[in-house]
Order: sequence, then C-alpha cells, then structure tokens
Amino acid sequence: MERTKFGIQGLDKALMGGIPEGSIVLISGGAGTGKSTLSIQFLANGAQLFGEKGLYISTEQNEEELRKHAHSFGWDLKSLEEKNLLKIIYFDITHGNDFLQMINTAVKDFKPKRITIDSMTTLTDSLIIGGLKEDSAFSLVQVAETVSPIPRTEQIIAKSILYKLISILRTYEITTLLTSELYEDSKSLSADGISEFICDGIIVMHYLGIGGSDTRSVEIRKLRYSDHTKSYLPYEIATDKGIVVHEEEAMDVLMK
Ligand SMILES: Nc1ncnc2c1ncn2[C@@H]1O[C@H](COP(=O)(O)OP(=O)(O)OP(=O)(O)O)[C@@H](O)[C@H]1O
Ligand SMILES: [Mg+2]
Repeated sequence: MERTKFGIQGLDKALMGGIPEGSIVLISGGAGTGKSTLSIQFLANGAQLFGEKGLYISTEQNEEELRKHAHSFGWDLKSLEEKNLLKIIYFDITHGNDFLQMINTAVKDFKPKRITIDSMTTLTDSLIIGGLKEDSAFSLVQVAETVSPIPRTEQIIAKSILYKLISILRTYEITTLLTSELYEDSKSLSADGISEFICDGIIVMHYLGIGGSDTRSVEIRKLRYSDHTKSYLPYEIATDKGIVVHEEEAMDVLMK
C-alpha cells in the first residue's frame, strides 16, 4: 500500500509509514494545539522532501498570514508556490462563494497529491448558517435539500452537507487532511460530531495542563486499512522545526 508521509519521524512511524494514500484524515484538537502548523508542515514537507504538490484551502488565515505562520518555523511557502509545488487558496466564508466549484477547479487545474482544508469547522458552520438564511447561498445546501424531503433540522442539514462534501473529496483519491476544532469536555472527536465517522482516520491533538510541564500529546484514534500506534505520543511545537513527535509513550514520560 502506498503511504503519504508527514515527514515527521515519530508520527510517520506511529502511522506505520504514513497515511494510506487517498485517505481523508481528520486532525482534531483544541485551540492552539497546532492543527494549522501540522497542516502546513504536511504540505511543506510533501513538496520539499517528496516533490509532491499540495493544495491548502484555508478559511481562517489568509495567504499572507499563512506564509508568515510558516516562515516562523523556517518554511518558505512563497518559493514552493513559485515552483508550482504549493497552492494556497483563502476561501472567505463571509463572501459565500461556491466552495465545491472552487475546489473542483483547483483540483482539476493544479492536480495536487495532497490537500488540506483548514478548518472544516468554520467551513461547515458557514455552509449551515448560509443555507438556513438564504437558500441560494451554497450549492451544497441545495443538494442537501433535494436529498431529504422530511422536515430539516440543522443536524440533518449538517450531516447531508458533510456526507456530500466528503463523498466529493473521496472521488479525487487524494490524501486529504481536514482540521476540526475540538471543544473541551466534548464527547465527540470533531466539532460537528459527524465527520469522525465518515473520515478514514482521526489524529487527535491533546493539550493537558498537568504540573506545568509540556504535556502536548498526539493520538491516532482511527486509521482505516492500516495498523497504527494506539498510545498517546508527546509532541512539541518547536521554532525552526514545527511539530516534533516523540516516539516514547506519553505515559512513560509523565512517570519519569
Ligand atoms: N514559531 C513558533 N515556534 C514555536 N511555537 C510556535 C510558533 N508559532 C506558534 N507556536 C505555537 O503553536 C501554537 C499555535 O499553533 P496553530 O496555529 O498551528 O494551532 P491551531 O490548532 O491551528 O490553532 P487554532 O485553533 O487557533 O486554529 C501557538 O499557540 C504556539 O504555542
Ligand atoms: Mg488553526
């Protein structure tokens, strides 16, 4: 099986070599856990280390902000863009453009090997709110309406939108990361409570404030078609390196 590598040693090892090619993986975590950093690193390493083209669709940070974010870790996105190895699209959710048309065109024209959508939470929230307010705002919502003739609740609409979106992403057969906000005390593994069931894999980024030590840990919660490490692995967000995942289990570290 072909694998798509993060180029982060500890993480690739935990994934038995990388994400099975073509999978859709949810990167779930609380605020500031490093979801965007991991997503940028996935594409920057993909381009620099493996010569693979990456498409970054951002709904939160615009192109300039992302370049600045990456620069603070030593990744020069501008030069990757100039080499045609990276394409950044800022999708402004307040403008209500057609997301599907945008991504379809980008995939057809740019032909990426890797895609990141950061964040899935803002995107689905905007699709739902836009759809409930004005019917013509998003084609995804219109699709959802034709699917379900029964009275619609937000939950049903959200579910139809996500199924539709993810089933379209699947047709691309491109390894894709979707970031999702994880609220503290949440019992779900994503903000919408649905995508964890639809995606092929889930990587959860935890932040535990125990004893003032750096207690960030990453967990591979699910990975279809592959074995993977089940334990929590400690990680750091390091200047000039980005995300560094340690191979020792978090519990071992805490007990030392
Ligand atoms: N240059 C840097 N060097 C080291 N650590 C950094 C650097 N830049 C950011 N960080 C750390 O990374 C964290 C933010 O990471 P990132 O933006 O990737 O998280 P996120 O999960 O995407 O956050 P959000 O929920 O806001 O989208 C910061 O809170 C900070 O702790
Ligand atoms: Mg982010």
